[in-house]
Amino acid sequence: KTEILVVDKSVNSKKTYAQAVDMLNAGQVVAFPTETVYGLGAVATDDTAVKRIFEAKGRPSDNPLIVHIGTIEELHDYIEDIPPVAKKCMEAFWPGPLTLVMKAKPGVLAPSVTAGLSTVGMRMPDHPVALELLRTLQKPVAAPSANRSGKPSPTKAEHVAEDLNGIIPCILDGGITGIGLESTVLDVTLHPPVILRPGGVTKEMLENVIGPVLEPSHEEQRIESTPKAPGMKYTHYSPEAPVFLIEETANIRAAIENLQQQGHKVALLAPKTYKETAADYFFTFGEENNLEQMGAHLYDALRSCDKTDATIILATATSKKGMGSAIMNRLEKAAGEKWFTL
Ligand code: TXA
Ligand code: MG
Repeated sequence: KTEILVVDKSVNSKKTYAQAVDMLNAGQVVAFPTETVYGLGAVATDDTAVKRIFEAKGRPSDNPLIVHIGTIEELHDYIEDIPPVAKKCMEAFWPGPLTLVMKAKPGVLAPSVTAGLSTVGMRMPDHPVALELLRTLQKPVAAPSANRSGKPSPTKAEHVAEDLNGIIPCILDGGITGIGLESTVLDVTLHPPVILRPGGVTKEMLENVIGPVLEPSHEEQRIESTPKAPGMKYTHYSPEAPVFLIEETANIRAAIENLQQQGHKVALLAPKTYKETAADYFFTFGEENNLEQMGAHLYDALRSCDKTDATIILATATSKKGMGSAIMNRLEKAAGEKWFTL
């Protein structure tokens, strides 16, 4: 049985952190909140512990994990040489939703963390619970999102429990995560740096600090030997029923009617203003044109569909500007690039 430990500013959580730290030191995995999504952590220098993460998630072993640290100083223990561009990024965005892929010091981190690559993704999360855990532990923590592989990432402790109850010993419950989408992954071993996964730190924000960066779409056309985030090739973020994207400007009412006439039960994921359509189920992305709210609600909305008997899911698309790039990246994956048109 999985223990859910609430960590909350209003209670003295010292004992709870000590309990989680003991489990990590004993080679166990612990789920914890970050400002992006919940992570499933293990001590990043303990290969047996790290393997438990892959097992619990059902994650392919060739997909490397992100290493979380509680202070910038620790970085020198794991990274061979820190590029000046990385230093600028850390100053501007750490702690925060930015993972930097750099050259790993050989033989320090558990081999399973990097899945055999010479590089490693490092990040310092901006969440009081994650930081308290890391600083009490005083060790690096390897942590992917705390979902079963292929499912939407968890933004609440309940989401973690849905996927991993009985499989992991402990979840630190710090409430709903703020951003709701995983960190931006930036490869700073390449020149110019390449965004391997869009996230809370946008291309525009990065370029203001370090100049031009490339995005995966452009990257795809570049030399074949360029390393990409191995995670990009797997199915992701998918509820049970098929997801179709639909333009916000499309006739959504007509689309729903058409699908219902074919015998479908339709779940609609859209801004609040679409509440009054005749969809069988409606899950909101929040206020219209509010990308922060859309990012924060996206995974919860996708997961909610699995609790219904909907046979098809329609999700409204948004622009790819700013945070929209990360949102559409996840939505396109959830939909397998399928668009609904009448
Ligand atoms: O916000 C986040 O990043 C969350 C929280 C828990 O910190 N973590 C997370 O981890 O999303 P995960 O494992 O679900 O995603 C890590 C991504 C994968 O796409 C992986 O392929 C990529 O980062 N990645 C990790 N190490 C890499 C490396 N050395 N080179 C290229 N890509 C790497
Ligand atoms: Mg993940």
